[in-house]
Amino acid sequence: MKNIVETILDRRSVRRYERQEIEPEKKQLIYDAITTSPTSHNGQQFSVIAIEDQELKEKIYELTKQKQIKTCSLFLVFCSDYHKMDVFAQAKGLDLQPIHQTLDGVLVGAIDATIAMSNARIMAEGLGLGCCCIGYIRTAAPEELSKLLNLPQGVALVCGLTIGYPREIPDIRPKQDRSLFIHHNQYSDEGMVEQFEKYDDVIGRHNETHTLAKYIKWSEQMEKYYEESINKHTLQYYQGQGFGVDKEPGIK
Ligand SMILES: Cc1cc2nc3c(=O)[nH]c(=O)nc-3n(C[C@H](O)[C@H](O)[C@H](O)COP(=O)(O)O)c2cc1C
Repeated sequence: MKNIVETILDRRSVRRYERQEIEPEKKQLIYDAITTSPTSHNGQQFSVIAIEDQELKEKIYELTKQKQIKTCSLFLVFCSDYHKMDVFAQAKGLDLQPIHQTLDGVLVGAIDATIAMSNARIMAEGLGLGCCCIGYIRTAAPEELSKLLNLPQGVALVCGLTIGYPREIPDIRPKQDRSLFIHHNQYSDEGMVEQFEKYDDVIGRHNETHTLAKYIKWSEQMEKYYEESINKHTLQYYQGQGFGVDKEPGIK
């Protein structure tokens, strides 16, 4: 087991895995990390579909085109989940407001699920496994995937996590200067453009010597990413699963 500082700081996404099962004890520790994660008001508004079935992983690959889903040993799908509370509320006649139809409720489910995913990832990486988050499960074909996983109303896809023994350990990807993340006492734009210019070049050079084998600036990659993302229909998908912002005060 790696120590916690090394586990957190020596991190990169791993997309290629050995065909090697994860030991049951390690899986239990990953599941423990999920169930002990902090949640808003201890409401535990998330759930996880743990997938090891190869045929199912391949079907999910067909929907998302993310190869690491079919080669990983364990694929975890993190969902925002207000359904389980609804089951209990109906059985007991609890009077629960539909907070999943407010922006805050939507965020709460996504935050709970994401913190749980982060805990699972840190535990898995600490145990010598490699991971990659998969946002495409939410954006590529969410309706089809929800059907495949039998997600009821009140449950919506947030993010996936592939886990397996690394076949290769990629270099760590350089990150923005700390000043672009951490502001002291008050938010400040000071020095932003200069830091971004430096970072643009750092990533350009990183891309040249890694998979892309070409000098492509970070900002060019961001333009492409934002252009693709503007056409996502996540709100429509969430509405289809019974979420929304209709109950937000001021929304008619
Ligand atoms: C919320 C989230 C969603 C992501 N979705 C995908 C994905 O669908 N496919 C993929 O290959 N990588 C995905 N990634 C991994 C990012 O591409 C990766 O974290 C980023 O390029 C930085 O590289 P690094 O993790 O090695 O530092 C995702 C990461 C996060 C945090």
